[in-house]
Amino acid sequence: MHGYTPGEQPADVSVVKLNTNENPYPPSPHVLSAIRSITAEQLRRYPSPDARDFRQAAAAVHYVEPDMIMPTNGGDELLSLVVRACAGENDRVAYLDPGYSLYPVLANMQAATPMPMAYEICGQEWRVPKNLGDLNAAVLLIVNPNAPSGTLIDLATLEDIARRFSGLLLIDEAYVDFAPVSAISLVKRFSNLVLLRSMSKGYGLAGMRFGYGIAQAPLIAELYKVRDSYPCDVISIAAATAAIGDQAYAQSIWKKVIEQRQWLTSQLAALGFGVPESHTNFVLAQVPAGMDAASLYQQLKVRNILVRYFNLPRLTDKLRITIGTPQQNKILMQALAELRDRENSPA
Ligand SMILES: Cc1ncc(COP(=O)(O)O)c(C=O)c1O
Repeated sequence: MHGYTPGEQPADVSVVKLNTNENPYPPSPHVLSAIRSITAEQLRRYPSPDARDFRQAAAAVHYVEPDMIMPTNGGDELLSLVVRACAGENDRVAYLDPGYSLYPVLANMQAATPMPMAYEICGQEWRVPKNLGDLNAAVLLIVNPNAPSGTLIDLATLEDIARRFSGLLLIDEAYVDFAPVSAISLVKRFSNLVLLRSMSKGYGLAGMRFGYGIAQAPLIAELYKVRDSYPCDVISIAAATAAIGDQAYAQSIWKKVIEQRQWLTSQLAALGFGVPESHTNFVLAQVPAGMDAASLYQQLKVRNILVRYFNLPRLTDKLRITIGTPQQNKILMQALAELRDRENSPA
């Protein structure tokens, strides 16, 4: 089997790093205070096995009960748990494709069969295949808003899929903080639905490793059976609890990212890139005719700018670009404009 290939994490902090969808802004100042106030006594003991404080804080934010929240070591751990709990040999793990390239890896680890369901890509529109809910699969994983396209599936479509699908449906909302709508209203109605949330993107805590699931309590209780005893440590619990508790700060950085997303989208379009409307903290830019995405990626890298290039079917003419600070985005656009002009100038 092939393992998952994470994006590059260069040691050089001067790199304009727009390749792994981190938040360009730091976490709430309350996070550092919470980390600084950890005591030696807290470090000596095991942490709360169910990250009690975080569960309560997240439940209050989402208007659900704490036993509907499952804290995990990053959203990725929740994905592992769901696939481990629900899929074995001879089972199918279905997912929309192109999507999150970790999904087939998780299916292969269970000796289950990965079942990519192709998005219908019409220009900049990404359409969900018809009758997705009627699939015969143990697990269906849907990223919404999607990575790497940034596009959004509407709530009515998700509801229809949830109603018809008989396996475990996971809606991966790692990027939902930058989107206009979440599927959280469906959780109380569908007992086979889990939402994934991440603290890495919206809350600027990718270095901390903290995510969580939201589902009906009996489903959460089943997932608890296959997890480690202490998946979240005392420092990450304190940090994540402080971060989710400071909604005013979080919303202020989401707004800034969304404004920059609009700016970057229009600037890329002006240079001839095709960009589907994004509801995330990144855009997927189809390079203009006559330009090559792989070489553009390399030329940007030479200029100390990192974006993501996927050598995968239907993505080889595109670059995924994380929304940076206004200054980073300007540096990127200046470099792209120069490279485009160089391409267009007679040899
Ligand atoms: C679609 C999607 N889901 C889940 C994750 C996992 O996020 P984390 O483990 O950092 O919470 C990522 C991270 O890149 C992602 O892109």
